[in-house]
Amino acid sequence: MIKVKNILCIGAGYVGGPTMAVMALKCPEYNFHIVDINQDRIDAWNSNDLPIFEPGLDEVVQQARGRNLKFSTDVEQGVKDADMIFVSVNTPTKTFGLGAGEAADLQYWEKTARMIAEVSETSKIVVEKSTLPVRTAEAMSRILKSNSKNLEFEVLSNPEFLAEGTAIQDLLLPDRVLIGSEQTTNGLAACQELVNIYQEWVDKDKVLTANIWSAELSKLVANAFLAQRVSSINSISALCEATEANVDEVSIAIGADTRIGSKFLKSSVGFGGSCFKKDILNLVYIAQSYGLQEVADYWRQVIIMNDYQQERFVLKMIKNMFNTLAGKKILILGFAFKANTGDTRESPAIFVAKKLLEEQASIVICDPKAIDSAKHDLKDLEGDISYELDPYEASKDCHAIAVMTEWDCFKDLDYQSMHNNMVKPAFLFDGRNILNHQKVHDIGFNVYPIGKDSLTH
Ligand SMILES: NC(=O)c1ccc[n+]([C@@H]2O[C@H](COP(=O)([O-])OP(=O)(O)OC[C@H]3O[C@@H](n4cnc5c(N)ncnc54)[C@H](O)[C@@H]3O)[C@@H](O)[C@H]2O)c1
Repeated sequence: MIKVKNILCIGAGYVGGPTMAVMALKCPEYNFHIVDINQDRIDAWNSNDLPIFEPGLDEVVQQARGRNLKFSTDVEQGVKDADMIFVSVNTPTKTFGLGAGEAADLQYWEKTARMIAEVSETSKIVVEKSTLPVRTAEAMSRILKSNSKNLEFEVLSNPEFLAEGTAIQDLLLPDRVLIGSEQTTNGLAACQELVNIYQEWVDKDKVLTANIWSAELSKLVANAFLAQRVSSINSISALCEATEANVDEVSIAIGADTRIGSKFLKSSVGFGGSCFKKDILNLVYIAQSYGLQEVADYWRQVIIMNDYQQERFVLKMIKNMFNTLAGKKILILGFAFKANTGDTRESPAIFVAKKLLEEQASIVICDPKAIDSAKHDLKDLEGDISYELDPYEASKDCHAIAVMTEWDCFKDLDYQSMHNNMVKPAFLFDGRNILNHQKVHDIGFNVYPIGKDSLTH
């Protein structure tokens, strides 16, 4: 039986960093060590300028860092010292060979497992925090247990359900925590060690335990269901535009049904983020590999609909701006995949920016937190791209504004001043349906929301 005191997390990213910081805050009697191979990231975690923007994160890190939370690049020493190891490395979609474009690329995971087996001198509990395909734990367990040192390794699956932008709140007050384990005496004892940690601040009835495969699958299914709601309402937004129905009114009407519920029914230019597409593709691949083609096709359609929604958005811009964007300057207002994060992975803004450049438009990108990431995402593209933190400066000489992120600060901008700065007729495409469309139309904009009538002059 392994008794836990020293906890290591491998991977100091959007999940590893906030998750361990909150655990350290709430569990002062345990020691937490977060390691990463990326020196810049670790340096930033040790500074006052953290590597990720997340509301409330600075305060949590400040309280725990130096007390029972430390960050370093000393992965092997960290492994040696730990009783419990969370593995929270990235699990990107495979780009080569069997399953390319769908399956998860598990080479980093396997290397991590082999390294843990190699350097360990004491028994450990290894916790999958990364989102992984069903039955990965089995492979990890076999690699770890094939070590010749007679050490005990128990593998748990503890998928993370936090959402970027609300990560700290989600971690402090989770809807549930899920822990999967082998249903053996040692597996259940390891599970109890992790249950004890969470129960320091999470209600007992919210800490769910399951078999390890159910835990792994539940994470993929949770993301698939969330993305499916977005694609479902986005499919209806196209129908609303064709029929003069209003997608916000439809959302309110159906969301008021308690069987359906109101969350994740906001129509938009589409979902982004590092997880939804990757995890659904993973689910599709798993279904296919078990010969369940209809199941795979069903879930793949969620992604097809999301691609369609982004394409539709750009086509609407081209069509309404007299079928040509060449030489026209367009303000991309927001680049993060959603509000309250600087993360731009799979952001619809990347797709829209690429398409606008293909049409030979000039683009200017404005985002309160994501300009550095945007520069990185677009660095290989040719065309006229500029970056500007000040939205008023950014609007100068633009023909159109495309709202790509639902930042609150965009709702209260002085659109009259921006309109004054722009070439007329001025166009506004609201990819997040966050503006008061009548008000901006009254200012003089030609307004194109999602799933509603356009307001033109
Ligand atoms: N981002 C989210 O909102 C979210 C939510 C729930 C689950 N997840 C899952 O959590 C996992 C991590 O996601 P993320 O967004 O934190 O990724 P990330 O890319 O932000 O962080 C991963 C970190 O792991 C580090 N790393 C990679 N290989 C390593 C190694 N061998 N040794 C040490 N460090 C290594 C990388 O340098 C990077 O800093 C993924 O599986 C993801 O699907 C993400």
